[in-house]
Amino acid sequence: MVEFALPKNSKIQEGKTWPKPEGATSLREFKVYRWNPDDTKNPSIDTYYVDTGDCGPMVLDGLIWIKNNIDPTLTFRRSCREGVCGSCAMNIDGENTLACTKAMDDTRSNAVKITPLPHQSVVKDLVPDLTNFYAQHASVQPWLQTITPTPQKEWRQSREDREKLDGLYECILCACCSTSCPSYWWNSDRFLGPAALLQATRWVEDSRDEATGERLDNIEDPFRIYRCHTIMNCAKACPKGLNPSEAIAHLKLKLVERQI
Ligand code: SF4
Ligand code: SF4
Ligand code: FES
Repeated sequence: MVEFALPKNSKIQEGKTWPKPEGATSLREFKVYRWNPDDTKNPSIDTYYVDTGDCGPMVLDGLIWIKNNIDPTLTFRRSCREGVCGSCAMNIDGENTLACTKAMDDTRSNAVKITPLPHQSVVKDLVPDLTNFYAQHASVQPWLQTITPTPQKEWRQSREDREKLDGLYECILCACCSTSCPSYWWNSDRFLGPAALLQATRWVEDSRDEATGERLDNIEDPFRIYRCHTIMNCAKACPKGLNPSEAIAHLKLKLVERQI
């Protein structure tokens, strides 16, 4: 396990230690990656002290408390704070996860250590550049494709066929899996990565979709799928409990089966 994963543009140095809040009875130390593209300084790790008596229990609550009470320049993404939008993915305590579902009490170190998702360029502070990640998602054409004329009301599916999508449709595109995958770290320009391949599986498995052959053609490539070496970091990292590695194995099987 990476104790304190460093992002791409890292010559990290110790940053500012912000004053402890006055009057707080219970404090939690946060060590947070900072980098501002508008100045010429190297990235740094700033130290903050959160008044845990004055904020919620999750790491995201702590970050919001810092932003509201200590340092309004601290930059991070979040939206739903319920584990459904995927925006607040970051590396906490050495693991990629969602800040809104990770409790401060569930971290192993005294200080809550936070860096951006690893091996991505950084836009600012805890915000990674996910342009390539989203482009890869788009490249698997994640929408229903049919040749049969659209029925008047809806595309129907049996209960059994619908159940085949369980474990696939729940993905929130947080990127925790892809940015924890060593193959993706070294080949993210050509390897689609676990998140996009899980999405590809979701559409290959959909009984209503009529573009299965084209979808398999699109991913059958030494890099796009076969750079997955079943290391399974992706399954360990997924905060939604999904298993992209299993989905990729399923896709590989489909590719083999169609040769027979
Ligand atoms: S199983 Fe494949 S996609 Fe998942 S971490 Fe390993 S190499 Fe990456
Ligand atoms: S498979 Fe899991 S970790 Fe990967 S993008 Fe989807 S929700 Fe996030
Ligand atoms: S804020 Fe939406 S998943 Fe964390």
